[in-house]
Amino acid sequence: MSVAMVNLASTSTLSEPVVLGEVSETLMIPLWCRAIESERRRGLLHDPKAQAMVAALDYDFDRRFADLRRLAFRACLRTVMIDRWVQRFIRARRHATVVEIGTGLNTRFERVDDGALRWFDVDLPDSMALRRRFFTDTSRRTMIEGAFGDEDWLARIEPAEGPKLFIVEAVLVYLDEAVVRRGFEQIARAFPGSEIIFDTVTTRAVSSRNRPMMKSYQAPFVWGCDDPRVIEGWAQHRLRETTTIDELPRELRRRVPLEHRLMLPYLRWRKPELLRSHALNRVELHPPMTDDR
Ligand SMILES: C[S@@+](CC[C@H](N)C(=O)[O-])C[C@H]1O[C@@H](n2cnc3c(N)ncnc32)[C@H](O)[C@@H]1O
Repeated sequence: MSVAMVNLASTSTLSEPVVLGEVSETLMIPLWCRAIESERRRGLLHDPKAQAMVAALDYDFDRRFADLRRLAFRACLRTVMIDRWVQRFIRARRHATVVEIGTGLNTRFERVDDGALRWFDVDLPDSMALRRRFFTDTSRRTMIEGAFGDEDWLARIEPAEGPKLFIVEAVLVYLDEAVVRRGFEQIARAFPGSEIIFDTVTTRAVSSRNRPMMKSYQAPFVWGCDDPRVIEGWAQHRLRETTTIDELPRELRRRVPLEHRLMLPYLRWRKPELLRSHALNRVELHPPMTDDR
């Protein structure tokens, strides 16, 4: 599909300048990466809507990312690996509800929808205002203004019955651990037994200055997590799966750039901590045993 053929929600507001807070503005990074990766032959994903949004937005993508095109696939690795987990969840259950928190301008619904699931997109008011320029609510898809760590928006997730999957991609690293812990507990109380997929960054990577994609952004990395099993100690949560974005399923390995594939053995040998620095996790959420609230 060509960029021009993609339906964008409200064309009259597209050329308005983008006004976002420091953390909210980071949504432009994965958006741009998805658009650029879509140009690569046999790339990890094909996201014409991301391409259309990048083309439509009044934003200085070129200045910020001009020399970073060869790195765009890395953010997409995280995205497509999460897509696969989400698709597996949906396939295994009927009438699933998926809640994407800190959704930015993500197009995951477009990539994984099975025609039956119920979907909620949650984000801070400024990010959501931007999202509303490009997306509209439907009977199966709803946008909600809300923050991970606040619980007011959880009451808007219906129906109460049925399996629930929460996704928080490239968001928790910007939050305090106390907020992350509180957010998990709030979801666990509202929807015990639900699952949450999220990524974690090691403390070493959090303090690293070597983050090319972030170089023109002010948002600091905050929460570092060296071992996702720590989350089990916060309540009765269960870590069901953890992997890194470099433990690639065979099918995806063939679709990363050759240069990266050739580098992997060297990195495994010389810089294993780099390969372990970014993990993807799937956790089943349960409230604490002794509920003394
Ligand atoms: C790096 S972007 C990731 C966007 C999206 N998940 C993606 O992968 O394209 C970070 C997003 O987190 C959102 N965010 C930051 N703090 C948040 C919070 N406390 N609750 C919900 N979203 C938050 C921002 O508004 C922004 O959309």
